[in-house]
Amino acid sequence: MVSEYGDALRGKIIIDITNPVTPDFKGLVTPDGSSGAQEIAKAAPAGAHVVKAFNTLFSNVLAAGPAEGRPLDVFIAGDDPQAKARVSAFIESLRLRPMDTGQLPMARTLENAGLLELGLVANSVRHTNFSLGVSILS
Ligand SMILES: NC(=O)c1ccc[n+]([C@@H]2O[C@H](COP(=O)([O-])OP(=O)(O)OC[C@H]3O[C@@H](n4cnc5c(N)ncnc54)[C@H](OP(=O)(O)O)[C@@H]3O)[C@@H](O)[C@H]2O)c1
Repeated sequence: MVSEYGDALRGKIIIDITNPVTPDFKGLVTPDGSSGAQEIAKAAPAGAHVVKAFNTLFSNVLAAGPAEGRPLDVFIAGDDPQAKARVSAFIESLRLRPMDTGQLPMARTLENAGLLELGLVANSVRHTNFSLGVSILS
C-alpha cells in the first residue's frame, strides 16, 4: 500500500497508528524483531519519515478528549528528530501529551503495548474506556 504512493511520500511524515495484530488479538503479524512501523519505513521512499504514534489510544478515548483534567499520553517512536518534533507539536495541538519513547525500533514495544491493552480488554477491564499513561512522580 505504502509503496503504491512511491515518490509522493518523499519528504513526508508518515504517522503509523496501526496495531498489526493477529486475528485472535493475541499476537503480532510482523516479522520477529520488526514492527508495522519498520515495515512501512522499508516500503516508503528514502526521505519519508515514519513516526509511530496514537496506537495505544482507543478511538473512543481519543474522541472524548482529556480526562481528569490532564492530557492523555501519546507514545511516539521514530528516527528523525524533526519529524518527531512536528508530530509532537501536532499532538500538543490536540491537547494531548507526546511521550517520546525513542527510535523507530521502539515501535515494536508500542505495538506490544497495543496488545497489552487488548489483553486488558479481554481479561480484566472489559471495555475500552481507558488509556495507558505515565505518572511522573518527581
Ligand atoms: N479503533 C481503535 O480504537 C484503534 C486504536 C488504536 C489503533 N488502532 C489501529 O488502527 C488501525 C485501524 O483501526 P480501525 O479501528 O479504524 O479499523 P477498521 O475500522 O477495521 O478499519 C480498517 C480499515 O483498513 C482497511 N483495510 C483492511 N485491510 C486492508 C488491506 N489489506 N488493504 C487496504 N486496506 C485495508 C479497511 O478497508 P475495508 O473497510 O474496505 O475493508 C478499513 O478501511 C488498526 O491497525 C488498529 O489496530 C485502532
